[in-house]
Amino acid sequence: MSVSLRLERNSPAALYQQIADQFKDQISNNRLPAGARLPTIRRLANDLGVTRVTVQNAYDELRADGWIEATTGRGTFVSERVNSRATLRSASQPVTPDAVISDMLQINEIVGLRSLASASPDPHLFPADEFWGVLAELRDDAATMAMYGASQGAPALRVALADLLRERAVDAAPDEILVTAGVTQGLALVTQALCRPGDVVLVEQPTYVGFLHTLKAQGVHAVAVPLDEEGPQVDALERLAAQHRPRYFYTIPTFQNPTGVTQSPARRRALLAVALRYGFLVVEDDLYACVAYDQSPPPPLFAEDNSASVVYLSSFSKSLMPGLRIGYMVAPAPLHSKLLSLRRAHDLCSPTLLQYALARFLAGGGLKKHLRRVLPLYRERRDAYLAAMQHHMPAGVEWTRPSGGYCSWITLPQRRAFSSLYQMAIQHGWVFTPGDVFLADPSAHYHLRICFGNQSPTVIRSGVEVLSRLIRTGLNETDRTHSETGDWAPLV
Ligand SMILES: Cc1ncc(COP(=O)(O)O)c(C=O)c1O
Repeated sequence: MSVSLRLERNSPAALYQQIADQFKDQISNNRLPAGARLPTIRRLANDLGVTRVTVQNAYDELRADGWIEATTGRGTFVSERVNSRATLRSASQPVTPDAVISDMLQINEIVGLRSLASASPDPHLFPADEFWGVLAELRDDAATMAMYGASQGAPALRVALADLLRERAVDAAPDEILVTAGVTQGLALVTQALCRPGDVVLVEQPTYVGFLHTLKAQGVHAVAVPLDEEGPQVDALERLAAQHRPRYFYTIPTFQNPTGVTQSPARRRALLAVALRYGFLVVEDDLYACVAYDQSPPPPLFAEDNSASVVYLSSFSKSLMPGLRIGYMVAPAPLHSKLLSLRRAHDLCSPTLLQYALARFLAGGGLKKHLRRVLPLYRERRDAYLAAMQHHMPAGVEWTRPSGGYCSWITLPQRRAFSSLYQMAIQHGWVFTPGDVFLADPSAHYHLRICFGNQSPTVIRSGVEVLSRLIRTGLNETDRTHSETGDWAPLV
């Protein structure tokens, strides 16, 4: 089978990566279907004028990610698993938060799709050697690791967390910290502790899809506070607080998911004042703060609060690895004991081995070292995303420019033109997240979330290019319909 690949020798992307990425492109859009034979390493190396090792490395990556299979004596073929995109639950209408979350959790196992959908760090950048190093050191303490631990979290980990929090200007003693199974468990516990079915919680619009799912699962209503480039609009927050008497307000002040927006200092002060005036708690999700590209992140609301109005949550899912399932929270004292008791009822405690390993990793400076290494790479991806958007997107499309985190929020003007954009992108081998799942209230516009943390700059550029093409087609078709009928699509 002949394949045509074009290498850019001046590009910062390694040659093997360019080869692997272009094969993925061709497999995704079915130019190389399941079962197609790839050229031999020797032949491709000759054709491209690169060493065999370069091609071997590209094939190794494709094989490791499940895109191709090698059969001794027969050759290398596109894997039959590339058809597994049919298993996406969210590919059929209606797209629900539950279906989207389910897909996000297994997206890396779906071969043949390139994902700009998951707000996670890149698994290839995890500090595997360093982390496995500390795991090995714990062998001598095998007996301790084999046992249950304290529900509040391993003492050594809470000591390391108190140090980490101090760097975020959060003054919390190890005894005030509760270790959780990620921010997700912390949010579920807070909701269970504070709400009854039918209660109202205020959320930013848009907000984190997983949190909307948590509220729904507990029968709690989400009421939307509009968010702009400076954060949640405080006059709306105040009006809705007066109207609904919410149990709490959930906010992601720094590098918000799904928008990447960071609240301005004025908004932060104003929203704390509203919370105090109306007597509701602010539940602050700070898990993207240390993924900062341009300058240090602002201190959390918790550090600015003088009246015990803020519950603070974070985890290692964005800074290190989501598979750890380790998060932590700090809550005002009476709530803390209630949360601890609920945590005991849920799952007793977090895995002892992982807690001790993480404690050692943190105490040895592993997180700082890791972030020093990966933040420039994520910054490069953010920059590649923004440059590609600027270059390819048609007029009328808007997007946010995050200075940290992994997410950007895109707004398309005409809802009707894009009702099948998500499904069309999947047919072209690309997946993003449709915006509706992040909304507590419907919107007049069509939105989508793009995440740039998980893919190389080359892949990001080609994903943005495909998406722009689909959007341009949608806009052109609407323009044609408009000039034929003289009738614009309604905004809602
Ligand atoms: C804002 C926000 N909060 C919480 C989570 C889930 O965090 P964890 O893995 O710590 O449960 C995510 C994951 O994407 C998120 O974006």
